[in-house]
Amino acid sequence: MTNELHETAKALVAEGKGILAADESGGTIKKRFDSIGVESTEENRRGYRDMLFTTPGVEEYISGVILFDETIRQSSADGTPFPELLASKGVIPGIKVDQGAKPLAHADGETITEGLDGLRQRLEEYRGLGARFAKWRATYSITDALPSDYCIWTNAHALARYAALCQEAGIVPIVEPEVLQDGTHTIERSYHVTCRVLDALYTELFDQRVDIFGTLLKPNMVLSGYEASNRAGTEEVADWTLKCFYKHVPAAVPGVVFLSGGQSDEDATAHLNAMNATGPHPWQLSFSYGRALQAPALKAWAGKPENVEAGQRAYYHRAKMNSAARTGAYAPELERDAVPA
Ligand code: 13P
Repeated sequence: MTNELHETAKALVAEGKGILAADESGGTIKKRFDSIGVESTEENRRGYRDMLFTTPGVEEYISGVILFDETIRQSSADGTPFPELLASKGVIPGIKVDQGAKPLAHADGETITEGLDGLRQRLEEYRGLGARFAKWRATYSITDALPSDYCIWTNAHALARYAALCQEAGIVPIVEPEVLQDGTHTIERSYHVTCRVLDALYTELFDQRVDIFGTLLKPNMVLSGYEASNRAGTEEVADWTLKCFYKHVPAAVPGVVFLSGGQSDEDATAHLNAMNATGPHPWQLSFSYGRALQAPALKAWAGKPENVEAGQRAYYHRAKMNSAARTGAYAPELERDAVPA
């Protein structure tokens, strides 16, 4: 079992490849569909995911896909269950297992991620449905006073409990502590908070006997707040993020798969590229983007069957750009190769 976890973790960060996060919960996918004026029905959600998963050739750049509970039970137009379809292309199916960030008691403005009750049984079922990796997301807000140590440590504890249960079930846990980048904070402040969050996370993972070689980290990049004046540029983002990880992420972690967290798709690609340009690093640096891989595809599709090919071209292009960023080979000029949607 141990070796299978190590092999799966390594395969997810194989050369030139990264992960598609397509695990939007019911509320989040509705928000995405609202933005293009499409009703969030089960069939529209299925059709949209079908478009992404059947994109010809994208498996050259995509190692795994994170699914939502509804999606892992759905099928492609020809009746093939999604996990089977993905696996047939060499793409590893994954599953989001947390049940969302809820208000943390006695901690105004902070959240704790729920979903541990019954998780052992759910993991067993998901493995039966084909999942070989999972995701659990915790969130932390930055203000002058937040995040509190209380929020940092309770979320780290829950992330480690989730990770241990995953490994017991033969599923690779992606641990996702997301420091939200809304606000006016400086990049230094984002650095300090991200350092504290990662330090607590790896302490708890160690204490709860998690095999670090069989995990992946899905972190935020260290950024200036989205509303900050004088926001840091690409090189600065790469420098601060790497400095933080060199100090707080063990070399045993096979890969770091960044979330995009509301960055524009081209920023998310450029930042990843700048980090890989100064490699090699102790861990693979890759992507597990939701919005930054899907935004142009969602727009091109707009809920219309006649736009499926345009949506697939847009998704394929972003996957290819992020693949280039895995080796520092990305350049904004490459964006011109995009086939107009
Ligand atoms: P974004 O890349 O849109 O932040 O989504 C990644 C994700 O899975 C968040 O949990």
